[in-house]
Formats: sequence, structure tokens, C-alpha cells
Amino acid sequence: MKLWEGRFDAPTAADADAFNESLSFDKQLWRADITASIAHVTMLGKCAILTEEEAETIAAGLRSIYAEIEAGKLAVEGAEDIHSFVENELVARVGQVGKKLHTARSRNDQVATDMRLYVRASIDRAMELLKELISALIARAKETAGYVMPGFTHLRKAQPINCAQYFNAYSEMFLRDLDRFFALRKRMNVMPLGSAALAGTSWNIDREITRTLLEFDEISQNSLDAVSDRDFVAEYLFNASLVFAHLSRLCEDTILYTSEEFGYWNIPDAYSTGSSIMPQKKNPDICELVRGKTGRVYGHLMGILTTIKGIPLAYNKDLQEDKEPFFDTEKTLFNCLSIYTAIIQTLTFNVNAMFEAAGGGYATATDVADYLARRGMPFRDAHAVTGRLVRYCIEQNKTLPSLTLEEFRAASPVFEADILQTVTTRASAEGRNSVGGSSTAAARAGIASLRRRLKKY
Ligand code: ARG
Repeated sequence: MKLWEGRFDAPTAADADAFNESLSFDKQLWRADITASIAHVTMLGKCAILTEEEAETIAAGLRSIYAEIEAGKLAVEGAEDIHSFVENELVARVGQVGKKLHTARSRNDQVATDMRLYVRASIDRAMELLKELISALIARAKETAGYVMPGFTHLRKAQPINCAQYFNAYSEMFLRDLDRFFALRKRMNVMPLGSAALAGTSWNIDREITRTLLEFDEISQNSLDAVSDRDFVAEYLFNASLVFAHLSRLCEDTILYTSEEFGYWNIPDAYSTGSSIMPQKKNPDICELVRGKTGRVYGHLMGILTTIKGIPLAYNKDLQEDKEPFFDTEKTLFNCLSIYTAIIQTLTFNVNAMFEAAGGGYATATDVADYLARRGMPFRDAHAVTGRLVRYCIEQNKTLPSLTLEEFRAASPVFEADILQTVTTRASAEGRNSVGGSSTAAARAGIASLRRRLKKY
């Protein structure tokens, strides 16, 4: 039965019904919808809008529907949307009194409330998964503090870095993502229920009662805005998009670093795939899929931004289009965060290969220039002297650490014997002891700082 058929002479066409329906996807809101209805009817009873007995009968009916869906005994089907489904089912169970549930309420404030409850729980889950990923990154950082690997800019070897510093960089990104979800949870935990269709209600309701029961921090202050606000959905999709920006970078690094060409890390067989034709292949499909799924999440963000643009106040059916992109995003986000946590936990490292590679490409040239500058030569001149040394190495097919003191001194008399130590890969990485830098001590301090900041959430 439709909730609104009284005004109509003829039934809606079958194709119109099929087009209009949302139950096929908004059934996912069933927990939120029933929970919010129980709170609403409890309030109606407390405010003497319904008798305590009527309210209790309705609440008991709602609880039984909840329990049966939970137990898999009641299929959620055969109605226009989740709200109609629950109400029809309620009336079927408790009779005419069930029809009083919708007093002082509209589906507009109802669906806005359901979505907030659902998104709020989804934020909590996203935060848990982000914390697990960050903990995995921190654990690997702790283990690899002191491993030297190449650091790149423009994907050209730049300076040696610390493996722990590398993992800490991603922890910093995901910590910002965590903070964005944390901030969103606070901002969005505002209850629209009680706004009714758009203008509020003439019933003497007490919104504080429903707010407390549903654990919202505040109640909305403008009914027109409250029924039509989906900013929180857009913000969730934006937060998820940035998580994917970070995940896809990590995927790209993983794919490169585990390739034959780089050979720094290995993905274990359990998280790799093969080729149907090339027997030798071990492919990083999981990383590629996570990187690829970034596209659909960004697409959903653009979708919701476009859906909410230009719709006149207040509720419009366009807003029903908030659900599918949201559900798909949260599913994609949860799947990718958990699978990537497993990848991080199981990566193995080719310590020597990373170390050897870190010394290649004249990666300690900055240390040579710094050496000269520390002894009074203007940095620009030191840069030029070192540049000539690098050119010399290229011509002679040598590396900077393999040069003799005489060769250094031929480039500048400022060089002393200690340059031979300064120019090594390890000395280079360990020398950068600035906060957040590549020394083992700085990387360990970075881990401690991350752990401290993680505790807030
Ligand atoms: N399925 C609808 C939605 O998701 C529920 C609200 C319907 N309200 C209305 N006035 N038709 O937005």
C-alpha cells in the first residue's frame, strides 16, 4: 500500500512505480529507520500526543520487525521505500494504531534522520579501519627504522631516505583523513527529526527527547534546511576521495617498488595474482584495483555535488540520489582500507637492494655541497663545484663514494679526508636529523609523534 494514495483516482503506472521506487537500495537503511521510528513514537507517547499504551504497542511492533529482519526471517521487499515498508509491516502487525506512527513527521525529516544515523555509523567504521591501517604502517615503520632506501623527486633518485620515514609519510596522510572524518562526525551529528515536511509541525513535540534517544549532539535550527541538507553526504564522499588519493599513491609506489626494475619490496603470493598466458608473471592486481577504484569514488563525489546543486528549497526527490553513490563509496572504502592493511602487514623488504639503490644516481651530491658550504663556501658555489664532480663521475664511470680524496681535492681544496665518510649513503641518510628527516632518530621520533596524535581518536 502506498502512503499517499488517498488523493489519487487511479493507481500509478507500473513503470512509474518501478522508476520511483528506492526500496531496492534504501532497504540498507532499515536499522536506522526503525531505530528513529522507535525514538519518534516514544517521544509522541511522552508528550501525550499518543497515549502511552498506543506508543508502547507501536514501539513493540517496530522492535519485532527489527528482530525479524535481523534474524533473516523477514524479507524487505514489496514497498515504495524503506519507510513505507516499515509502516505497512507495522500496520499489518499491530493494526489501526500503527497508522498513528507518522503523526508530526514526514518522510522528508525521516529520511534525513535515517541518512544521518547511517552515515554517522559509517564514519565510525571508516575511522576504525583508518586506525588499523595507520597502526599497520607504524608497525612496519618501527621494524624498518634504519633501512635506507632511495628517496625520489620527479621519480628520479634524489636523496637516501629511511624506510620508516617513508611509511610515516603515509601515516601522516591517513591521520589527516582520520581527523577529517572525526571533524565531520561532530559537524554532522545534528538531528533533523521534528522538521516534518519542511515547515516544522504544529504538534507540541519535544525534540530533546528524540535527540537524546538517538544520541545526536544537537537539533537542527531550521526546518527548511534540515530536510534538504545533504552536505554531510558530500563531505563523506570528499573525505573518502582524499583517502583514495592517498591509497592510490601508496598503490603506485607499491607497484613500482615491487617490480623487477626496482626490486625493493615483495608482495607475498597470498596477495598477488598470475597471468593466464605468461607463466612467469606475478602481478600486483590488488594494488591496481585499489588505484582503479579511486575513479569511481571521485565519480560519486562529482555525482552528489551535481545532484545537490540548484535544487530549490526545500526537499526535492533529487535527494533520493544521495544513496547509491554513498553506499557504493562506503563499501569501496571499507574493502580497500582492509585489503591494503593486509598488504602493508605482509610486505617483505629486500634490505640490501634498497640500500644499494639508495646510493645510486649520485644521491649524496647534496651532502657534498653541504660539506663545502659548512666550510664557508657560498652554497651556490658549492652546488657548482659538486655539479662538476658529478659530471666528472659520469665521464669516468665512477660514483661519488668511490672517488679518492685526491679527486675531491682536484675539484676544490676545501675537501679534507672526512669527505670520504660524509659522501656515503648511510651518512647521508643519518645526517638529516631535522624534525621529520631521514635519520633513524628522526624517524623514531616521527613514530612516537604519530602514536601520540593517534590517541586522540
Ligand atoms: N525515498 C525518498 C528519499 O530517499 C524518501 C523521502 C520521500 N519524500 C517525499 N516527499 N517523496 O528521499
